[in-house]
Amino acid sequence: MRRVNIGLVGAGTVGGGVYQAIQRNASLMACRLGVSLRIHRVAVRDIRRARDVRIPRSLLTTDWKQLTQDPRIDIVVELMGGTSTAREVVASALRAGKPVVTANKALLSAHGESLFSIAQQRGGNLYYEASVAGGIPIIKVLREAMVGNRITRLYGIVNGTCNYILTRMKREGADFMDVLRDAQKLGYAEAEPSLDVDGHDAAHKTGILASLAHGFWVNPALIHTEGIRHITQRDIEFAGQLGYTIKLLGIVKARPGVARAANRVQVSVYPALIPNSHVLASVNDVFNAVFLRGDIVGDTLYYGRGAGQDATASSVLSDLGDAALDLLHDSRRRVPAFVAHREGGLMVPIDEAVSRYYVRLDVIDRPGVLARIAAILGRAKIGISSVIQPEVHGGGGVPLILMIHDATNAAMRRALTKISRLSVVRSRPSLIRVESFD
Ligand code: NAP
Ligand code: HSE
Repeated sequence: MRRVNIGLVGAGTVGGGVYQAIQRNASLMACRLGVSLRIHRVAVRDIRRARDVRIPRSLLTTDWKQLTQDPRIDIVVELMGGTSTAREVVASALRAGKPVVTANKALLSAHGESLFSIAQQRGGNLYYEASVAGGIPIIKVLREAMVGNRITRLYGIVNGTCNYILTRMKREGADFMDVLRDAQKLGYAEAEPSLDVDGHDAAHKTGILASLAHGFWVNPALIHTEGIRHITQRDIEFAGQLGYTIKLLGIVKARPGVARAANRVQVSVYPALIPNSHVLASVNDVFNAVFLRGDIVGDTLYYGRGAGQDATASSVLSDLGDAALDLLHDSRRRVPAFVAHREGGLMVPIDEAVSRYYVRLDVIDRPGVLARIAAILGRAKIGISSVIQPEVHGGGGVPLILMIHDATNAAMRRALTKISRLSVVRSRPSLIRVESFD
């Protein structure tokens, strides 16, 4: 049986999980694939660091070049994170003609196009199943299973940390920072957790999915991105009273139309109110889900653990199986890393995007306040679908919740700026989009 030697760069949460999973299931994979996978060398930052996973000292090195340049190593797995050294590691391995497996969505978002191009030039391949939605094989779905469909809608809960935080805030009234610390302890969060809570990680993943779905490399700088820091317990409760759950969504919407208009795609990441009756509202804790609509298949849904050691290791193993088979059969280009198949793809600016909105205002409880706010919205031709003003005793401000009909982001932003300038509005309004999945 052909033996395939793996060089693992990084043995932290995911790398440690991959090391353990290979010890556990390499013989099962050998039976299924006819290839024996073996970890040949492991690069880490600090050899003396105490690890949960026992890795023989003889395998460890702090010099990743010993892996990328070693002719005995067949596949390099990059699980170190970051975008600078990781880029060098991946480029160096690809230039040495080795296939590379990575879980690094930040790296792909920033440098994917150039790395795919090196892979193509050198006849290698770059595999990245673990970069989006943890254990859900969504890259395979888009590249292989959906090859005969135009993807008209994609809605993803693609950040496990944010979903875990929002779930526990809703379920237990838990404090944002406490839950974030738990997510870090559980190995869900990025080394820099602002990547999670400010929406950037979800934007990296949504951009990768949008690129695969629409065939042009989506510029991450053009993805409208909002995180969940501004979501308060009050918003979660009011949303609940209205029959909604707040989730951080990655959204990819193809614009209907012909010619150039058909090449326009909205790619955004923001927290949204989801009707409790929609299946994505029930995706809780660290679980992720991706809802895809294809023009032939209709609606499909993919669900599973979106972060953490074992779920992510499972996707890395899937890529290792593919990479090993491609080596064995000399079929590295069978499913290329990324095929740019559409020219002139354009991103729709968020100002043109249309949605419904939830607006929470903190206003002085005085006659005529609602009329002044409604007048601003009315002049902007923005309709109110419902209003809640709970009775508050003891003076001061009262919350005023407005549910708004469809409006463009630009019109809503302008109206909200005028509303927030009213003397009766006591603090910055809270605005959350409402997703209707049409
Ligand atoms: P992590 O726990 O911080 O592990 C990083 C590993 O990289 C550590 O073993 C570290 O060595 C090693 N490393 C760092 N700099 C190095 C260098 N210059 N040379 C050699 N080794 C180096 O990170 P992680 O959570 O496993 O994440 C790894 C990657 O997977 C990231 O791209 C992340 O976005 C992605 N990812 C993570 C998850 C998840 O749930 N955690 C899920 C999907 C994708 P030491 O051990 O010596 O410090
Ligand atoms: N920090 C990421 C998340 C890891 O929470 O989803 C999985 O990509």
